[in-house]
Amino acid sequence: MNSERLLIYDTTLRDGEQCPGASMNLREKMEVARQLARLGVDVIEAGFPVISQGDFEAVSAIAREVRGPIITGLARCVPKDIEAAARAIKPAGKRGRIHVFLGTSKIHRQFKFGKARDEILRLAVEGVKLARKYCRNVQFSPEDGSRTELDFLTQIVEAAISAGATTINIPDTVGYATPKEYGAMFAHVIANARGARDVVFSAHCHDDLGMAVANSLSAVQNGVRQVEGTINGIGERAGNAALEEVIMALRTRRDAFTSVEMGVNVREIMRTSRLVSRMCGFVVQRNKAIVGENAFAHSAGIHQDGILKKRETYEIMNPEEIGWGVTELPLTKHSGRHALALRLKHLGYRLTDRDLNAVFARFKALGDKKKFVYDDDLGTLVDERAFEASEVWSLDYLSVTAGTGLVPTATVRLKKRAGTSGAPSSYEDAGTGDGPVDAALKTIDRITDRRGKLLDYQLRAVSAGKDAIGEVTIKADFGKGLILTGKGASTDIIEASARAYLNAVNRTFACSKRIARAASGS
Ligand code: KIV
Ligand code: ZN
Repeated sequence: MNSERLLIYDTTLRDGEQCPGASMNLREKMEVARQLARLGVDVIEAGFPVISQGDFEAVSAIAREVRGPIITGLARCVPKDIEAAARAIKPAGKRGRIHVFLGTSKIHRQFKFGKARDEILRLAVEGVKLARKYCRNVQFSPEDGSRTELDFLTQIVEAAISAGATTINIPDTVGYATPKEYGAMFAHVIANARGARDVVFSAHCHDDLGMAVANSLSAVQNGVRQVEGTINGIGERAGNAALEEVIMALRTRRDAFTSVEMGVNVREIMRTSRLVSRMCGFVVQRNKAIVGENAFAHSAGIHQDGILKKRETYEIMNPEEIGWGVTELPLTKHSGRHALALRLKHLGYRLTDRDLNAVFARFKALGDKKKFVYDDDLGTLVDERAFEASEVWSLDYLSVTAGTGLVPTATVRLKKRAGTSGAPSSYEDAGTGDGPVDAALKTIDRITDRRGKLLDYQLRAVSAGKDAIGEVTIKADFGKGLILTGKGASTDIIEASARAYLNAVNRTFACSKRIARAASGS
């Protein structure tokens, strides 16, 4: 039997980035988009261009610079959204797609729009037609499709196809469907909507009941040829279908999915997962399938014994195939710029000479502090460089005194990025706190005039050894709905904490504009 191509549609930068605390800046988004291209996804949904200037710029920069995948921007079925999306994806030329969506379920029609079926139908058709004026590749999504009455869903899909949609995505927006229902819904629509055979059907699942991946797989067994999801399953509420899980399920159980094949380079899965985790500050849970730290760890004696005798006794996938544990000789402080450049290239980073020089300087400083510099350490050094470029505030100096019987005190000096003219200005202050981290963070608050309430604090060693870099991830509430994550790394964990907090403070500058715009509906 001939198998058909299953398109992998990544929405990490749109639906993934939409979840509280996951926002990324332009450079972080570019890094992720480039890595997604190396992973070989077919479509990158790069953002929602009308929502903010930042989203618009990210979509258009990705459309301009990232080669390979189709680049798409999201739009509601309203002209200003569609026009913004059209402008943003234009640099992608023939690889551009506009994705229009509109709520179709009874609850959305009544309470969100106060409109009857025929009015919703008209808006969908107008939206698709307008998008087609700008782009030949148009995706239509009836939002909350899985809770839409089947007869109306079939009718609106048929209307969208005749208006020119080339892909029909039917989302399980609130993660309510069961695998059987979701599969049956596609089977029904594909069999009954006129023109269905001429378009690609797509699944888009949320994980509110933990069924997002199972629902996506059921959709594939019922005729879907595009699956949408995010790396590490990040996204609104409980997140989206985790793409690495969908991909590895389809690959490992080829016998159950003989009708489809993918063009993904699975060796890039681990690298992509780690990059997304670092860029958006969401730590991957240890027992997460495929990419969690314990996914291939066997601690029980019986298992270890079995694995040693024959790997397949307890392992259904080969971890090396997805880029796990492929260890290379670590670099040391004696390694030169050329060796560093080669290793970074091998890891998939594309740096300008200027960035490479900056990373090399950090690498040397780190090499003085620790014996071996591992690949994960290098990732942290590159990320720090990316943050620095977009930082409003940066850490210049930190000194902390703490100990038994001492009042923890921090002295902090920050640099504030220069405006259009002039040199960066320096600000210094000192303060006390309940511990050294608290003292440092409170002092940062005073200097930056931001007040973040710490909601979560996590510390992990980036690589092996007592001299490992400590990576701190924090989540802080800055008020008015601004809950942001930040990351920082250093061999000194107080410094890592201050950097992580400052990283979140820096994100408030981009995000407050975005929230204000979204609230005003502009
Ligand atoms: O979950 C959803 O319905 C969406 C649409 C915009 C496709 O993300
Ligand atoms: Zn979604």
